Amino acid sequence: MAVNKVKVSAPGKIILSGEHAVVYGYPEILSAINRRLSVEIEETVLGLDIQPIEGKSLVEYAVEMIKARLKISGHKNLKIRINSQISIGGGLGSSAAFAVAITAAFFEFLKLPRSLKKINEIAYEIEKKQHGTPSGGDNTVSTYGGFLLYRKETETFKVFSPLKTKVFPSIYLMYSGKPEESTGEMIKTVKDFILRSPKEAEKIFKETEKITRNFSRFLSGEELNFGGLITRNERLLEQLGVVSVKTKRLIQKIESTGGSAKISGAGGVKGDSGIILAYHQDPKVLIKLANEEKIDMFKVKLGERGVRNEKN
Ligand code: PMV
Repeated sequence: MAVNKVKVSAPGKIILSGEHAVVYGYPEILSAINRRLSVEIEETVLGLDIQPIEGKSLVEYAVEMIKARLKISGHKNLKIRINSQISIGGGLGSSAAFAVAITAAFFEFLKLPRSLKKINEIAYEIEKKQHGTPSGGDNTVSTYGGFLLYRKETETFKVFSPLKTKVFPSIYLMYSGKPEESTGEMIKTVKDFILRSPKEAEKIFKETEKITRNFSRFLSGEELNFGGLITRNERLLEQLGVVSVKTKRLIQKIESTGGSAKISGAGGVKGDSGIILAYHQDPKVLIKLANEEKIDMFKVKLGERGVRNEKN
């Protein structure tokens, strides 16, 4: 019979500007979105029972990591249920939302005082298992929610501040399809580019930083051309070599209707490039295009809440 049961959820994210550049110490802007992943933990008599079974090894790893970091033993008989509205491997931060939600669920289950800072730190350790050298932006925005300006100075020193947002742009997400490459492989692609063309890479990152700062000014209410910033950001990601030919074609089609679009996240070059962030003053045009191209598209709410308890 269940004696202790908790349910915690954490949001997915989009990157408005600065992906990849953030790995090299430049700032990025992320936003939590209204797609969430929840983790339920309850006591059972059955040993460690994990559902769904596909993610079992990552869940086991996360549980061991959390127990080690919280210096606890025991708790062998747990039923862990994961439910997600966030598609996997498309750049919406599903692995970070998982890492944050499972860590926070343990805090709740063990009745430890909730510390967002500690939850974020442990979630980052779990993220490293998945992505090698992530910047930590995904888990940070999933923990704290809202819009964040984030910068990784060093592996152990990361700074971020919540952006006070006056404008919530109306953004649609199109799913170009799951990239063939992992985030780690795309980070490697950029690293190779930097080794081949260090000056060009630096120019791209510096230009990206300017755009990131303009996005931040736009969100705080300054009158700037939001669509124009998206397009310029996309061009720089294309120069960096993280957008596939197929995705570039789709983005050109969006631009030819007067809209703008960019990849959001690590991208992909061999086939698809994951999630695309699309903006148009007349969203009906985007809906028509997505129908014609048979692409999944949904409106997304930005600036959503970070990790939170859910009622069982
Ligand atoms: O895993 P994704 O698709 O959300 O990409 C993460 C963004 C990168 O800047 C490429 C990597 C990182 O850790 O910030």
